[in-house]
Amino acid sequence: MNREQDSAFIPFNKPYFTGKELEYIQQAHNQWHLSGDGPFTRKCHAWLEQSIGTRKALLTHSCTAALEMAAILIGIESGDEVIMPSYTFVSTANAFVLRGGLPVFVDIRPDTLNIDESKIEAAITKKTKVIVVVHYGGIACEMDTILSIAHKHNLFVIEDAAQAIGAKYKGKPLGSIGHLSALSFHETKNIISGEGGALLINDDRFIERAEIIREKGTDRNRFLKGQVDKYTWVDIGSSYLPSDLTAAFLWAQLEEFEKIMHRRKALWDKYHESFSEAEVKGYLRRPVIPENCQSNAHLYYILLPTAKKRDSVLSLLNKKGVNVVFHYIPLHDSPAGEKYGRTSVPMQVTVEMSRRIIRLPLWIGLEKNQNRVIDEVLLEVGGRQ
Ligand SMILES: Cc1ncc(COP(=O)(O)O)c(C=O)c1O
Repeated sequence: MNREQDSAFIPFNKPYFTGKELEYIQQAHNQWHLSGDGPFTRKCHAWLEQSIGTRKALLTHSCTAALEMAAILIGIESGDEVIMPSYTFVSTANAFVLRGGLPVFVDIRPDTLNIDESKIEAAITKKTKVIVVVHYGGIACEMDTILSIAHKHNLFVIEDAAQAIGAKYKGKPLGSIGHLSALSFHETKNIISGEGGALLINDDRFIERAEIIREKGTDRNRFLKGQVDKYTWVDIGSSYLPSDLTAAFLWAQLEEFEKIMHRRKALWDKYHESFSEAEVKGYLRRPVIPENCQSNAHLYYILLPTAKKRDSVLSLLNKKGVNVVFHYIPLHDSPAGEKYGRTSVPMQVTVEMSRRIIRLPLWIGLEKNQNRVIDEVLLEVGGRQ
């Protein structure tokens, strides 16, 4: 018997299916439209544009692909500097490195684990082109300050909103604030399609070129709209669009968006309440949601007082069948980060938080086992004798 078959084992993640996914895939099959930009893709685009309030949404096959498109669109060239946190996924950096950009890593805030906006200005040089923010766990970066820094220095702002669908900053949906934003629908996210993503365009100047870059550098989209009589190679690009089968799956998820968010929030709130006393006693620290932010309950983490305690709690919980995990290994410390990036300021908070963090299981269906996760965590952190 493997761990997943063991009924006592609680996995870190379990994809949620609404039950409509296969029916919609069957419909796409019946409609004979399997390639990209079919009827389901159009439904998803319209939904994203309406609910996020973006000027244009384009499905991609991953958030990574959307970030690569963003790097091309803002014209990253060799030597351009790209400000970003080190506490993030590799794609945040890789997308720009592929274009010759140089990631300049900035430390994070200890409360939200998001880029520390007070340290951004010191990292700006004549070569800086863009600030890439990552809304960690669906909790917003301090966007007003970041936008005003960007405005003052004439920089682009890109939101890596991989984890942030449905979350808000001062009432504005994340993904609608930067010039360009990228979402992920990877199976670990709130809304999923296995692999998947979207580029959100909030500045009209980028729309036409984005459609070209996504279609292998051709004006195929204009051809399909009847604007040209044949399509040709007009720019650089790649194949960034997903099949309509993927969009069919995604549409089943988007239809249940509110329900999914509601159920995740209930799980998140329960963890948060259950750990409040342990936080008061100093056994752990809970996530912080600033007053002007509305989270999407993407992930729940706890911070242990020391790295040593984190390692022992992580290993004990996993031994007991409660699958908990750490998160990003700081990019500035990684082999490729050292080779392709630069660190602007000491990265103390990044290093410390990445060693103290434990992420807990959070998925729809966990409700019946969540008490066990909470009990085991409290027992191991020392909060319950
Ligand atoms: C912050 C961030 N950016 C980008 C990605 C990449 O997403 P995808 O797997 O859809 O390419 C992830 C993946 O988890 C992420 O956490």
